[in-house]
Amino acid sequence: MTRIAVSRFGAADLIALRIALVPAPSSRLPVAIVGATGVAGGQALVALKDHPWFEVVRVGASATNAGRRLGDVLASRRVESSAASRANDELALDLWPDDDAVGAATLDLVLEDATTMDVSSVAVVFSMLPTSTAAELEARFAVTTPVFSTAAAFRDEPDTPLLMAGVNPIHSELLETQARARGWRGFVAPGPNCTTVGLAVSLAPLATRFGIEAVHVTSMQAISGAGMAGVALADAVRGNVLPFIADEEAKVERELRKIFGGAYDGMTVPARFGVSATCTRVPVCDGHTLSVGVTLSARRADLDELRLEALEAWRDHNPWARRKLPSLPERWIDVLDDGGPEPRRDVTRGGGMTTVVGRVRTDPVLGGLKYVALSHNTVLGAAGGSVLLAEDLLDRGVFTWAG
Ligand SMILES: NC(=O)c1ccc[n+]([C@@H]2O[C@H](COP(=O)([O-])OP(=O)(O)OC[C@H]3O[C@@H](n4cnc5c(N)ncnc54)[C@H](OP(=O)(O)O)[C@@H]3O)[C@@H](O)[C@H]2O)c1
Repeated sequence: MTRIAVSRFGAADLIALRIALVPAPSSRLPVAIVGATGVAGGQALVALKDHPWFEVVRVGASATNAGRRLGDVLASRRVESSAASRANDELALDLWPDDDAVGAATLDLVLEDATTMDVSSVAVVFSMLPTSTAAELEARFAVTTPVFSTAAAFRDEPDTPLLMAGVNPIHSELLETQARARGWRGFVAPGPNCTTVGLAVSLAPLATRFGIEAVHVTSMQAISGAGMAGVALADAVRGNVLPFIADEEAKVERELRKIFGGAYDGMTVPARFGVSATCTRVPVCDGHTLSVGVTLSARRADLDELRLEALEAWRDHNPWARRKLPSLPERWIDVLDDGGPEPRRDVTRGGGMTTVVGRVRTDPVLGGLKYVALSHNTVLGAAGGSVLLAEDLLDRGVFTWAG
């Protein structure tokens, strides 16, 4: 039975949707979270608690945990995480949410084996699976149902947009061609790697105002970015920096160009600017800090003027004018002038949905700017970003639910 219509945005749809979406708890769309017991999955549970549009009715994980109560698995994960915290007491490792942040009804759900789940009865799947598993499962889920994914499985597919709410909304057009070409009634909408997220949000106003020629970035990434494997990293980052994260640099370089590229004839075309990344792991629980250098296409003779213009570009940037979505933070980008951002102090701004920019300097060698950006890797960089994207596409009528 066809339940999902992937449709083009139209004004009439939008009005109908807005009327349909006036919050009435009984009319919330039923959604599933697969990978619900992982670090990103835990944040999806938090983002969807008491959500006015979506209700979590199904949860999936590996076969090992199938049949167990979700709340019991989360409780045992918190015990493992606090044991690792004792091994590195400076880290304050806190990878899974407390029961209050998830809610009693969801904690009582029984986990299903994600590999055999039939998702045709839900309106949306939030997939927080490892990439190796996601490749097969997300394609199967999308046969009936829209899939919002944090995994890398579909990110490099030319017919698949790398969608970021508030950054490249026009690329959502590709979801319709993806679904048609693959014979799906749903689609797969992957979000980017968590390091790419803060970089893309912070670069978007500069791309619009000046144009970008090249980007150099060094990341200082939190250990929650490694998911459950982060527990085992707690000791390795004790008083230490790990200057290598497998596959990460190439992902940032590819994904940033795709996000800022074009979408023509049902295919994505990467932007032409150069990107050079160095990715490191640091002893921080949450929040990826990025040291960014950007060469701008539009040069300014007066560097003080350039800095002021960049600050104005960030402060004026509001891709959400007149939009009201449940997961939107009060401020999309916060610009600091106090030496920050610092992850411990600033990572929870906007509930982890605000990107924070600071240390803005001009750089004559680069022909542009240097700055530091911070974003929450498991919230905006994973689950929160996926939920916001689903809200954005639903609100714009890119997909609808026929029940
Ligand atoms: N952590 C971040 O900051 C972040 C940011 C952006 C994107 N991502 C991406 O998001 C995805 C999830 O990341 P994570 O950090 O949450 O990982 P994680 O903590 O390792 O969690 C993985 C989840 O997938 C489930 N799973 C593992 N193997 C499975 C299998 N063979 N079949 C079905 N389910 C399986 C696990 O279930 P069990 O508990 O039963 O093992 C768990 O629920 C990954 O693709 C990651 O690259 C993560």
